[in-house]
Amino acid sequence: MSNNIESILTETRVFEPSDAIKQQAAIKADKLDAMYAKAEQDHVGFWADLAKEKLSWHKPFTKALDDSKAPLYRWFTDGELNVSYNCIDRHLDTKSDKLAIIFEGDKGDVHHYTYQELHDEVCRFANTLKTQGIKQGDRVIIYMPMIPQAVIAMQACARVGAIHSVVFGGFSAEALKDRVENAAAKLIITTDGGLRGGKAIPLKGAVDQALAKGCDSVKKVIVYQRTKQEVVMQDGRDIWWHEAEAGMSNYHDPVMLPADHPLFLLYTSGSTGTPKGVQHGSGGYLLNAMLTNEWMFDLNDKDVFWCTADVGWITGHSYVAYGPLAMGATIVMFEGVPTYPDAGRFWQVCQDHGVTVFYTAPTAIRALMKFGKDIPAQYDLSKLRILGTVGEPINPEAWMWYHEVIGRGECPIIDTWWQTETGAHMIAPFPGVTPLKPGSCTRPLPGIDAIVVDEEGHEIGNNSGGYLVVRKPWPSMLQTVWGDDQRYIDTYFAKFNNQYYVVGDSAHKDADGYIWILGRIDDVLNVSGHRLGTMEIESALVAHPKVAEAAVVGKPHDVKGESVFAFVVLNTDLPAGAERDAMVNELRNWVAQEIGPIAKPDDIRFGTNLPKTRSGKIMRRLLRTIAKGEEITQDTSTLEDPSILKQLQQA
Ligand code: WTA
Repeated sequence: MSNNIESILTETRVFEPSDAIKQQAAIKADKLDAMYAKAEQDHVGFWADLAKEKLSWHKPFTKALDDSKAPLYRWFTDGELNVSYNCIDRHLDTKSDKLAIIFEGDKGDVHHYTYQELHDEVCRFANTLKTQGIKQGDRVIIYMPMIPQAVIAMQACARVGAIHSVVFGGFSAEALKDRVENAAAKLIITTDGGLRGGKAIPLKGAVDQALAKGCDSVKKVIVYQRTKQEVVMQDGRDIWWHEAEAGMSNYHDPVMLPADHPLFLLYTSGSTGTPKGVQHGSGGYLLNAMLTNEWMFDLNDKDVFWCTADVGWITGHSYVAYGPLAMGATIVMFEGVPTYPDAGRFWQVCQDHGVTVFYTAPTAIRALMKFGKDIPAQYDLSKLRILGTVGEPINPEAWMWYHEVIGRGECPIIDTWWQTETGAHMIAPFPGVTPLKPGSCTRPLPGIDAIVVDEEGHEIGNNSGGYLVVRKPWPSMLQTVWGDDQRYIDTYFAKFNNQYYVVGDSAHKDADGYIWILGRIDDVLNVSGHRLGTMEIESALVAHPKVAEAAVVGKPHDVKGESVFAFVVLNTDLPAGAERDAMVNELRNWVAQEIGPIAKPDDIRFGTNLPKTRSGKIMRRLLRTIAKGEEITQDTSTLEDPSILKQLQQA
C-alpha cells in the first residue's frame, strides 16, 4: 500500500460536481451548510431531530442519548420501533408494487421482489422462526450465499427481535464454529450451497463440520435449497426452509422493541485475540444506515442501487439489507463474481437492470481495470449517475479510471470511509456539493466529529499524519463487543483515556479540512478490502502440527491492496526444493481450512527462527521490508541473531 499512499499524498486535482448532479441532488450546498451549523451547535439535538423525522416510531423517545455509562453509549433508549417495519411495512401504502429487490444469480437467472412480495416472504419466515422456537434476544447465525433469502432471513430476525450474526459464506467451518460458540447461537440458517463463477460451493457441509466439533447451543438448522447438491440432513435438527415455511401466514405483527435492542452482531478482526462480535443496536444503527443512503447516494424513487458487497460484511448490512430498504429504494443483489462468465459481468448487470447508483471496492475496480476499457465500452452504462467506493484508500489511478471509463467523466466518485464498528459512512462527500480530490474521502459528515490527533491526543491538521479519532458519540456506533464491555473499552477507548473513539487508522488532514486515510496502525491487514488480523492467521499457522512459530505481515499488492506474507519456523529441518513447495501448499490450504480462502498467504518463507530482539519481541518492520524485497536499512543491532535475516531473505 505504500506506493498507493505516495501517489495519494502528491495528488492535487480537484473535481467540482457537474451541473447535472448539482441539480439532481436533493442535498444542496445551503442545506448542507445548515446541517453542519446545526450539528455544531447542538450535537445530540441534531441527531434527535433526524431520528424523529426519518424513522417510524411505535413509541417516541424522550431522551436521545444516554451517556451515563460512557463510553458505553445508548441512543433513543426509551423509544420503541421495529427495524423491519421501517424497512418494509411503512412503504406498503404507497409502494407495495415497487421493486424492492432485483436479483441476478450466478448463472444469469433473474428474480424480482416487490415491496409487497418482500413483506410476505419476510413475514412467512418470521412466523417460521417463531415456530422453530426463536424468541426475542436469541442469536441466529446466517451462513448463506448472496441470495435474497439472506436478506429475508435478516429482516425476519429483526422482525421477531432475534439478534442475527451473518457469517460470510467464504469462511471455513472452523471460523464458523468460533462465531457460533461466541454468540451461543440457537439456530443456523444456511443453504445447501452457493453458486460462484459457475461452481457450486458447499455451505451445509461446513455447518455439519462446525456442529460436529461443538456448538452445543445450536438446536436447529434451517437449510434453503439453492444448488440442489447433495446434503445430509440430521433428523430432529435440520429442516428444509421450504418445508419449515409450508403453511405459514403472509402476515406477521412485528415485535416493537426498545431502540437500543441489539439488531445484529458482526464478527471482525482486531489486532489481538479472536474476532470480536461487534454489536449494533436498532434505532441508532438504522438512522445512520438510512441517512447515508440518502446523503451519499442521493437515493430517490427512480434509482436502482447496486452495492456489490456480500451480506457477510458490514457494507452488505447497511447498503444492501437495511439502509436502502429503509429509504424505500430498489436494490440489485448479485450472487456471482465480477469475472464470470467474463470481465464484463458487472457492466452487464448495470446495463440490464438500469443501475443508477453503483457502489463497490477499489480492489474490484483495480481488477477490472486490468481488462481495459474496451470491455465496459460494450455496455450501456448511461444510466449511472453516482459511483461509490469503500474498503481501503483508492489510488488516484483507479479513481480516474472509475470516473472516466465507468462514469463518463460525469459521475461523482463517492469515497466513503467507515468501519464495521461505525455502522455507516463517517467521512464522505455529498455528491451534489463536495469538490472531490482523488484518494481523499473528503470531510466528516455533519454530526460526525472526526479529527486527527498526535500521540498525546492533541488535534493536528495541515498535512501532519496522526491517529484518526471520533470525539463525540454518534447513533450507529457499535454498542459494545458482544459479551465483553471491557474489551470494547480497551480496544476503542483506552488509548486516549476514554476521551475518543479510536478508529485504528492513521490519517492526515489537509489545509481544506480533507481527510486522507493512510491505513491501519495496528496489526490488521486489508486484503481486497477485507480485514484480517495478523494474529488470527498466525494462530491458524501455529495450530498446524509441523509449525513451531509464525509471523504474518502485509505486502503491497496491485490488485488486493495488500497480500498475506507469512514467515514460518517449522519444528522439523528447514525444507528445500520439492519438499518446501509441498509444505507451502499444505500450509496455504491449512489456513484456508482454518479461516477461509481470503486468508491464504500468497507467500510463505521458512527460517530456523524469526528476527527477534533480545527480549524476544518479533521485529515486524524488518519482516515487512523483507516481504517487499527491499534492502534492510533499519538498525538491526538489537537483534538476537542477525544471521536469520539473510536466511529469510534468501529462502
Ligand atoms: C479501511 C468496511 C480508506 C479502513 C466498511 C477501516 C478505508 C477499515 C475506506 C474498516 C476508505 C474502509 N478509505 N480506508 N474509503 N473504507 N477503509 O470494518 O482501514 O471491513 O478502518 O469496514 O477499512 O474495514 P471494515
